Amino acid sequence: MTLTIEAIDPVSRPFFAGVVSGVDITKPLTRSEAAQIEKGMDAFGVLVFHDQALTDETQMAFSRNFGELELATNNLRTDKEQRLGAHIADISNLDNDNKVLGRENRRRLFSLGTRLWHSDSSFKVVPAKFSLLSARIIPDAGGNTEFADMRAAWDTLDPETQAECLPLVCEHSQLFSRALIGFGDFTDEERKNFAPVQQRLVRTHPSTGRKSLYLASHAGTILGWPTPEARAFLRDLTEHATQRKFVYSHKWTMNDLVVWDNRATMHRSRPFDATQVRDMHRTTVAGMRSTMAEAA
Ligand code: OGA
Ligand code: MN
Repeated sequence: MTLTIEAIDPVSRPFFAGVVSGVDITKPLTRSEAAQIEKGMDAFGVLVFHDQALTDETQMAFSRNFGELELATNNLRTDKEQRLGAHIADISNLDNDNKVLGRENRRRLFSLGTRLWHSDSSFKVVPAKFSLLSARIIPDAGGNTEFADMRAAWDTLDPETQAECLPLVCEHSQLFSRALIGFGDFTDEERKNFAPVQQRLVRTHPSTGRKSLYLASHAGTILGWPTPEARAFLRDLTEHATQRKFVYSHKWTMNDLVVWDNRATMHRSRPFDATQVRDMHRTTVAGMRSTMAEAA
């Protein structure tokens, strides 16, 4: 088998979102295969692997080719409510008995925050490098995941706006993203855990040297700016960054694995029939440092 990586849409998006073939990622990779995939991630930002019947174990093993795994944060679940292991983020609409969460369920409402454009773990001091999402059960229709190319977003900003963005630092918190969808049902302890963290608005990719806009719906303030002005500015940038020409929409098939680089992309989930099961398991490769410790 020869590993090959090709653009999914070579005409309209030759440099964003690739599909990988000729590799079985449920088995240990050779060093050369792992290096080719990492290089493909640098080139395309998002990679799709089809027909990979991963278990949580084999998904973790594959993910560890790219770094240490983050502990999953899992949407307000208490320890007793964890359905999956400590390194598997439960991106499903299921409770511990594998029943679909009711419409008013608090965790379901919190998890609707993924419908807003974001980058995973930007609300953590050390944000995520890669996320790897495996489709175990999908609904009959809907439930796409969309990805936006934040390198292209940066490259196409006018020079004045680039200069304005370059020194800026934002505060990110899940309290900000949930406020946007009108979710404020937090305990005092959750509020404490969601204390804002600082992240640069512009980051430089450690392997490619390319700059990208580091936006997420978790970003709620810009240091030194009045809040309404900051929010209006971040909203304008997000609108620019998520124009359709910068977006790949992934329609899931069972046993797809999609890997994205959170340092260079944003993503969001799309709606589906909430009475159907959608069970996705995510592993997350941790970043190396806060963006505050990176050069802009
Ligand atoms: C995620 C996420 C989107 C989706 O797994 O981090 O945002 O479509 N998922 O489930
Ligand atoms: Mn996400």
